[in-house]
Amino acid sequence: MPPLSNLAARDVETLVHPYINLASFRDSGPLIIERGQGVFVYDTDGKPYIEGMAGLWCTALGYGNEELAEAAAAQMRKLSFAHLFTGRSHDPAIELAEKLKEIAPVPISKVFFCNSGSEANDTQIKLVWYFNNALGRPRKKKIISRVKAYHGVTVAAASLTGLPGNHRDFDLPLPGFLHAACPHHYRFAADGESEEEFATRLAGELDALIVKEGPETVAAFIAEPVMGAGGVIVPPASYFDKIMPVCLKHDVVVISDEVITGFGRLGSAFGCQRLGFAPHALSIAKAMSSGYLPIAAVMIPESLYQALLSESKKIGMFGHGFTYGGHPVSAAVALKTIEIYGRERIFEQAAEKAPPFQARLKALGGHPLVGEARGLGLIGGLELVADKRSKRSFEAHHAVAARAVRFAEQEGLIVRAVAGDVLTLSPPLVISRTEIEELFDRLARALDKTLDWVTRERLAQA
Ligand SMILES: Cc1ncc(COP(=O)(O)O)c(C=O)c1O
Repeated sequence: MPPLSNLAARDVETLVHPYINLASFRDSGPLIIERGQGVFVYDTDGKPYIEGMAGLWCTALGYGNEELAEAAAAQMRKLSFAHLFTGRSHDPAIELAEKLKEIAPVPISKVFFCNSGSEANDTQIKLVWYFNNALGRPRKKKIISRVKAYHGVTVAAASLTGLPGNHRDFDLPLPGFLHAACPHHYRFAADGESEEEFATRLAGELDALIVKEGPETVAAFIAEPVMGAGGVIVPPASYFDKIMPVCLKHDVVVISDEVITGFGRLGSAFGCQRLGFAPHALSIAKAMSSGYLPIAAVMIPESLYQALLSESKKIGMFGHGFTYGGHPVSAAVALKTIEIYGRERIFEQAAEKAPPFQARLKALGGHPLVGEARGLGLIGGLELVADKRSKRSFEAHHAVAARAVRFAEQEGLIVRAVAGDVLTLSPPLVISRTEIEELFDRLARALDKTLDWVTRERLAQA
């Protein structure tokens, strides 16, 4: 390992970073990003990288957008902070809530602001519990999520998340959080099972799970339309068609976690529109402000709102809220972001760029290291395997995808590795066609370097 730069050494001595092996990180140190412009970010040596992950699936409009910077500065000058507690309000929150109701994919009665996807999903759980208490159904509290789901890291949101790395040694999940099967045909279909049959089986299993637990104890089902951090998993086309009636039959609230898929990622305003289902409630965050400032929200249907209303009347207060929920500066930036999405037809353009993006992605499915190349819209995943035919994975401790990330960085491309040796891609929605070509050229070279390394180290051998 080369010695760490001064700044990197200071980082290692001062920060605890999320999602890293904290021990090996002490030697490798951070990649320090200094500035960004368009779809490029630049490290402290001035080296440019294509930001193939839009930060963390969020910077949809890319970097250095002057209009967003101006919106933030203007709002900071006008009113730098105001809250929504105890009946106070401010116009950016009101306007943003109105805008969100207008563009919502299903009828939405009210909007509750939070600061992160985790807070939005925690709020969803609390609302559903409050709702069922209001309706006199105190036992209807269990929440069903799915294996490999990612819904965040706060205590309840991490319990929804279906990834062992978010549970192990954190004493999670909490009781009352259940995980249904993951709709990943490549990994979990039975021999010879078609996508359609697989989806039918999963819906049957969900039904059986709810019946076994007792429908009177199951409150909600939460799902990402396309799973992101679990490895970019696109469900079978008919999956939600089959899942929705099961939930409705058992009076289970369906929550679409649109933290990644909201605001154009799949080529539609919201992911549930692309996947063809109508949830009751939605969680949104990330691209809502193009990642320029933290802001998130829960979109609440009228039935849920009515229950909140009656329960808070009964007990005297709706006792939930975050100091910075609906922060005026974040709200002003989100409003401007949504204005730009509409004015520049960003979602339509994402839909137009999806076929060339997906074609280049799927072509990498032919690479000797790639077991499956999958995606939808402008999101993609490459699952790296030791043996394509048997789908045998690499041993986790070899961290093959993490090594591929390093090779991609050498090539001037930022991608992410998630559990199961999946490389994920989610570039800013404003990426041009030429930049898409360049992104995949760089990724292909990184995969070749990874293959050379895997071969040299004999990591593919059983
Ligand atoms: C689908 C989904 N839900 C929730 C979250 C949690 O969001 P946050 O990291 O803002 O808490 C994420 C983060 O990546 C996500 O992808």
